[in-house]
Amino acid sequence: MKLTNLIETDQTSQHHEAFLADVVNGLSTEQKSISAKYFYDDIGSELFQKISQHHDYYPTKTEFSILENISNLLPTIINDAEIDIIELGAGDGHKSELIINGFINAKRKVNFYPIDISEKAMQLLGDNLSINENLHIHGVVADYLHGLAHLKAISNNKKLVLFLGSNIGNFNKEQTDQFLTMLCNALNNDDYVLMGFDLKKDPAILNKAYNDDAGLTKAFNLNLLTRINRELGGDIDITQFMHYGFYNPYRSTMESYLISLAEQTITLKAANQTFHFKHLESIHLEYSHKFTPSGITKLAEHNGFEITQLFSDEKDYFIDALFHKIVHKDMYD
Ligand code: AVI
Repeated sequence: MKLTNLIETDQTSQHHEAFLADVVNGLSTEQKSISAKYFYDDIGSELFQKISQHHDYYPTKTEFSILENISNLLPTIINDAEIDIIELGAGDGHKSELIINGFINAKRKVNFYPIDISEKAMQLLGDNLSINENLHIHGVVADYLHGLAHLKAISNNKKLVLFLGSNIGNFNKEQTDQFLTMLCNALNNDDYVLMGFDLKKDPAILNKAYNDDAGLTKAFNLNLLTRINRELGGDIDITQFMHYGFYNPYRSTMESYLISLAEQTITLKAANQTFHFKHLESIHLEYSHKFTPSGITKLAEHNGFEITQLFSDEKDYFIDALFHKIVHKDMYD
């Protein structure tokens, strides 16, 4: 697999500075918070892979079943002889493989561009995908922003961007609009996006998925504190925090917090600063938004896309939405 690394060497130290600044700011506000984007160090990414295979966490397998059902249908909708499939946050590649195989089976040429911030994840994905003479794989190590900016320059082929797993649900409203506008700008007229959305459902099912019985989600959340200890010189006693995840119907989100089990003060050497926690004070970590079909349509149309089709599973737990970028020419142009 060919690999392009768009991460400049000084970006690593910039990431460290940004992590430090975000943690210091997040722990200095009235409602303490740390952004969920910092979950994904190597250990966090591995834990997320385990969560996604656990029986309580339905989104991954549900989306997999949808993709299995539509993989042969997509090439009948997007019927170009050669296509660029770009995946943002590629993960282990098992879902993308289903989509790619649909096009290969329909005798199309596929150029697959997985984009991921982690070079390690990218190499794993390269090992997982099977070689085919009609499939070219070119990994891009980059964040979404740089990866998307790189998209336009790739080729003039029709593009299908995959943004799966309901990753969009972890953005807030402002980040969602910003991301979709950026994505739309990075595409040409008549390109497509296949985007995963987790749907609103019985809160009992949601609460179970984010409080799995193997304690993986708990470990995933607490790993953020371990990361702070390791990378920012923290002295946090992990046993003094508990994981708390619940569905908030008012906001239609799963929310996750860490709650301090004691009154305590922690020190961050990298910032030369201490932070005080009252007994039962919380740190907000993550929102995971749950959508409705009409909300998905509104979101697409508000950001320059048309919906080609919404694909759901038999329980209506999840939707993969096919967005189409259509530029309507002004009749007086
Ligand atoms: C990556 N993302 C879509 C997951 C989600 O369901 O929001 C992250 C996650 N958090 C806890 N479990 C999984």
